[in-house]
Amino acid sequence: MRFIAVAVILCAGCFWPTASAHPRKEWTKLILTHQWPETFCSVEKNCTTNVSFWTLHGLWPDSGMMCNTSWHFNASLIEDLIPEMKKYWPDLLKPSSPEFWEYEWTKHGTCAAKADSLNSQHKYFSKALELYKKFNLTNVLESNRIVPSEQQHYTLYEVETAITSFYNVKTKIQCVHPVKGDQVQILGQIEICVDRDFQLIDCQKSIEEICSNDIPAVSVSGQSELRVCDHSTPVYYPPVPSRS
Ligand SMILES: *[C@@H]1O[C@H](CO)[C@@H](O)[C@H](O)[C@H]1NC(C)=O
Ligand SMILES: *[C@@H]1O[C@H](CO)[C@@H](O)[C@H](O)[C@H]1NC(C)=O
Ligand SMILES: *[C@@H]1O[C@H](CO)[C@@H](O)[C@H](O)[C@H]1NC(C)=O
Ligand SMILES: *[C@@H]1O[C@H](CO)[C@@H](O)[C@H](O)[C@H]1NC(C)=O
Ligand SMILES: *[C@@H]1O[C@H](CO)[C@@H](O)[C@H](O)[C@H]1NC(C)=O
Repeated sequence: MRFIAVAVILCAGCFWPTASAHPRKEWTKLILTHQWPETFCSVEKNCTTNVSFWTLHGLWPDSGMMCNTSWHFNASLIEDLIPEMKKYWPDLLKPSSPEFWEYEWTKHGTCAAKADSLNSQHKYFSKALELYKKFNLTNVLESNRIVPSEQQHYTLYEVETAITSFYNVKTKIQCVHPVKGDQVQILGQIEICVDRDFQLIDCQKSIEEICSNDIPAVSVSGQSELRVCDHSTPVYYPPVPSRS
């Protein structure tokens, strides 16, 4: 009985106003989202990559989207960051275009910018790069012997343990789930969360997130196939094929 009551309360929660309906609510958490390029390109089916490290997808506040659409992205304000942006935050679909950064700035950066510490394009993008380098997810996985492999698959537990033992917080690990007949889920995206002082914190699920996970995600350039990995399916961490 108690279980049923809890379920009812959880579901009722889904009808509460969501974060995006309250753009004025201050964000409390930033989600540093990393993507595995090979998986991204296998989902998009329209890119190839030779990048064999985790790249940035975005730095997302947990509240608000498109907070100021008249605050336009301007690449000349982050000129000094461009070489690192190209390397660590590449647009895998359109490598020579700033479109991806522009999209991330408009959708998420303008909301992150409500904090004084991130209230310019330069502050926002340089902070993302700083955190990315500091956390060095590629290195954390590798040092825990989680490496891309065609033959060896991992359990989600192994991947979680590798990550958690280093950062000491809960992260969010997403996979491309198997389609009919496949035996594996493909490691695709990992989120690491920080608070307003940029200290690591759990990427805890709020009721809103739990609910929105049950609704097919709005397709962000093909990313809709990514969901939290599950514990019962082997995890495939695809290596970058050597292309000549
Ligand atoms: C796929 O790639 C081609 C060639 O780069 C490009 O012209 C086209 O716009 C891409 N399609 C999508 C849906 O991104
Ligand atoms: C990856 O591809 C880019 C662009 O084609 C090239 O400049 C770079 O040297 C390649 N890197 C490696 C490690 O092959
Ligand atoms: C939106 O951004 C523009 C351009 O930077 C700025 O002038 C304006 O004050 C901002 N609006 C709000 C509500 O912050
Ligand atoms: C972009 O920023 C530069 C440097 O502040 C400025 O000179 C330029 O006018 C801006 N461009 C646009 C389109 O706002
Ligand atoms: C991450 O760590 C590896 C190994 O220590 C290093 O080679 C690499 O440059 C680091 N990446 C970044 C973005 O600092």
